[in-house]
Amino acid sequence: MGGGWKPWHSMAKVLILGCLFTGFLLLFYAYVAPLQVSMTEPPAGTSCSPPTPPVNSSSGEGSCRPKTDIVFMKTHKTASSTLLNILFRFGQKHRLKFAFPSGYNDFNYPAFFKRSLVHNYQPGDCFNIICNHMRFRYPEVRGLVAPDATFITVLRDPARLFESSFHYFGTVVPFTWRLTGRDKLAKFLQDPHRYYDPKGFNAHYLRNLLFFDLGYDSGLDPRSPQVEAHILEVEQRFHLVMLQEYFDESLVLLKELLCWELEDIVYFKLNARRASAVPRLTGELYRRATAWNQLDALLYRHFNASFWRKVEAFGRERMAREVASLRRENERMRRICIDGGRAVDAEAIQESSMQPWQPLGTKTILGYNLKKRISQRHQQLCRKMLTPEIQYLIDLGVNLWVIRLLKYIREFLRW
Ligand SMILES: *[C@@H]1O[C@H](CO)[C@@H](O)[C@H](O)[C@H]1NC(C)=O
Ligand SMILES: *[C@@H]1O[C@H](CO)[C@@H](O)[C@H](O)[C@H]1NC(C)=O
Repeated sequence: MGGGWKPWHSMAKVLILGCLFTGFLLLFYAYVAPLQVSMTEPPAGTSCSPPTPPVNSSSGEGSCRPKTDIVFMKTHKTASSTLLNILFRFGQKHRLKFAFPSGYNDFNYPAFFKRSLVHNYQPGDCFNIICNHMRFRYPEVRGLVAPDATFITVLRDPARLFESSFHYFGTVVPFTWRLTGRDKLAKFLQDPHRYYDPKGFNAHYLRNLLFFDLGYDSGLDPRSPQVEAHILEVEQRFHLVMLQEYFDESLVLLKELLCWELEDIVYFKLNARRASAVPRLTGELYRRATAWNQLDALLYRHFNASFWRKVEAFGRERMAREVASLRRENERMRRICIDGGRAVDAEAIQESSMQPWQPLGTKTILGYNLKKRISQRHQQLCRKMLTPEIQYLIDLGVNLWVIRLLKYIREFLRW
């Protein structure tokens, strides 16, 4: 056996899964999704006035009230799962109202966001936090939150983001199936136009994904004046654009902006890939990947510059101090919570509730084991900090029947 059999086996898996999945999606979008749509839309922003809990801080100057109305535009492959965990915890702590999707962990992505996709949405409803994946559509989101809600998002160096997206989503982008050889990414980047089909299924994952997620046309000519206009629009709409490469600095800016406490932004890296599964992009490939994602590169360049202006305004030394204390606190929590002190491969994770969702066909995403003995005081926080996105959503009461079904199919096919 061996040699000749295996490729057929995996090919059959791809076919079966492909058919099931497509059939299923058709069914879903044709019959189930529309049922959840309510018909009337209220005029934007009518009933969303912020609740004003009178907080009386006696700490004098510098005191502020924690902001609780937040739109997090969750981009793909940008450490956004880690930030999601932070928002989930904060929302629970303050008993905030989340706008969650229904059935799945995104708002019908890659279709544009619509208010009616929010679980149990009634016209006029108002929410504190929106943070699941969506393709951004500002007016729709705007109407769901208080006028003074804070809008945030995360960007990442587009070449690295592209590499990550290629790894994570490559198998669900059919035109990549024609790529042969060991290093499919290098092959693709040698001559992207030969493979890339902008109209292909899931094509958006493999070019200018940030632009796409933010709701813009990811196929724009980089010389078009619209590109700059879009970038400036993002700048106007978002109060903070964080960078994955400077995640800790970003969190410190976030904490300042939202008047949060250090405890609120403590984190463990979630949904990270095993280091051996992360190839280094060499100079030439890096350059090609950047050129291929030119719109995202322009976007990133703009916000990289504005990020450092913000750090400058915050104070370099103050930033260094705050980053150091965040890292100390993360380290302290690591010793308290994590068995073995580090992330492990999927096979080594004991509790299924700690098992992260894996990309199709691989098991490269790492997870954690909780320590067996954790003091009462830290028990809950540790568990929350380590719970992967899907399980956390379920804990928060989101019905993820689509995900559960996919999970059964994958377990059945051992994929
Ligand atoms: C804040 O505290 C002061 C004195 O302690 C009190 O007079 C005032 O009414 C309080 N304000 C609110 C909004 O609770
Ligand atoms: C971002 O800006 C910093 C500071 O100006 C610079 O050192 C860094 O190379 C920039 N990163 C990218 C990916 O352009």
